[in-house]
Amino acid sequence: MAEDNLWYEGIPFPRGFYKPEILRKAREEFVIKDEDVLIITFPKSGTNWLIEILCLIHSKGDTKWVQSVPNWERSPWIEAENGFAIATKKEGPRLLTSHLPIHLFPKSFSSSKAKVIYLIRNPKDVIVSGYFFWNSVNLAKKPKSVEQYLEWFMEGTVPYGSWFDHVRGWMSMRERENFLLLSYEELKQDTEGNIEKICQFLGKKVEPEELSLILKNSSFQAMKENKMSNFSMMKSHYLVHKNPLMRKGVTGDWKNHFTVAQAEAFDKLFQEKMADLPQELFPWE
Ligand code: A3P
Repeated sequence: MAEDNLWYEGIPFPRGFYKPEILRKAREEFVIKDEDVLIITFPKSGTNWLIEILCLIHSKGDTKWVQSVPNWERSPWIEAENGFAIATKKEGPRLLTSHLPIHLFPKSFSSSKAKVIYLIRNPKDVIVSGYFFWNSVNLAKKPKSVEQYLEWFMEGTVPYGSWFDHVRGWMSMRERENFLLLSYEELKQDTEGNIEKICQFLGKKVEPEELSLILKNSSFQAMKENKMSNFSMMKSHYLVHKNPLMRKGVTGDWKNHFTVAQAEAFDKLFQEKMADLPQELFPWE
C-alpha cells in the first residue's frame, strides 16, 4: 500500500515514491559532480519554493522552463525512484534535490565541490505543513490529528525521520564554503535579499529586471497557479486534494494549531536537542 511508510535504515520514507534498492544505490553509487547544485531540506521546509527560485535564476526570470517541465524533473529528488533515474541521466550542471539525512546521502559527495543550499524552517510550521500534506496525498502514513503528528515528529517517526538529527547533521557542514544555510522565515521576510544571496553563492549575476521577474514568478500565487510546480500533476491515485502543496505559505501558522501545552512540550524538546548550537542559526520566535 502506498499509504504507508517504508522503513529503511531505521527511518520511515513515504512508500509511494521510495524503494530500498534505490535508497541504497543513492548512498553507494550515485555520483555527485563538482558542478551540481544541491537543494537539501527536511520535507515541508519550502523545498519547492527554493527549486522554483533556482530554476528561475537559471532562466533569468523567464518562465518557459518552469511552465513546461514539472519541478521533479527540473530538480529531481535523487533518492526517489523516479528522481534517481532522471538525475542519473541528466547531462551538464545539474540542479538536484534531496531530503536525505546526511548519513544516508551519496558517499561521493564527500569528495566533491558541489554547492549545497540547506533550507530550514521553524519546525512547528514544518509539523503543521506536514500534517496537512500527508493527509492530502496517498504517499505515506496519514496522521489523524496535529496532536498525533506532533508526537510522531517528536519521536522522529515522520517521513525522513528526526528533524533534529537532520538539521544537526547538515548544519555540521555550515562552515564550508560550498554550503549555504537559508531559512524559510528569512526567505519570506526578504525574498529579494535572499535571492541575491543565492546568486552570489552560485556566482551568478542577475540584472534588476531579471530579479523582479524571478520574484514575481516564484511567488506563492504564481506557483499555486502553475501546474508544473503545485504537484497537481502527480498521478491521480496519489492525490487526495488536487493542489496539495501550495497550502498557505506563511510563517507562524503553528499558532493556529498548537495548544499552549503542545508548544511548551515542543520547545522543551527543542532546547534539550539543540541547546549546544548557536541559537542565531534558528531565526524564528
Ligand atoms: P504550508 O503548508 O505551510 O503552506 P516543501 O516544498 O518543502 O514541501 O514545503 C511546502 C511548504 O512551502 C508549504 O507550506 C507551501 O505553501 C510553502 N511554499 C511553497 N511555495 C511557496 C512560496 N512561493 N512562497 C511561500 N511559501 C511557499
